[in-house]
Amino acid sequence: MKHTTLIDTLNEALGWELRAINMYAHYAANVKGIHRLQLSPMFDGEATESLVHASIVRKAVVKLQGIPVTERNPHPITHTTDYAEMLQYSLETETKAAAVYGEVMIQLEAAADQDLSDAIEQIYLAELRSVEELRLLME
Ligand SMILES: [Fe+2]
Ligand SMILES: [Fe+2]
Repeated sequence: MKHTTLIDTLNEALGWELRAINMYAHYAANVKGIHRLQLSPMFDGEATESLVHASIVRKAVVKLQGIPVTERNPHPITHTTDYAEMLQYSLETETKAAAVYGEVMIQLEAAADQDLSDAIEQIYLAELRSVEELRLLME
């Protein structure tokens, strides 16, 4: 059985993860000033987490007999050295990811695949935690 909509939404999530890897790696390298001390490792950590998420989602697409996307989501990655702008763009990215995974969660209910639901739910919750964490960082 082919879950076309679910595969498309998972691929949408994969595109955002591929973009997040690039964005966070870029910000980890470019963040300037005293905040670099804490934010560079944090952005590196987010890049690594996105790599892990991408790997899980990619395998889920294959399991559903789809073809995983290889291109990142085209939403521009804005260069800046200002940490506050980086946090703003990070929040934008995490909010977008959480919304896409929220959609995946709804579509997964119909697919009745417990393993997949559990794996995606963990990612979904991680994105929600990132949104909350970034909100607190920006207060
Ligand atoms: Fe993610
Ligand atoms: Fe994330």
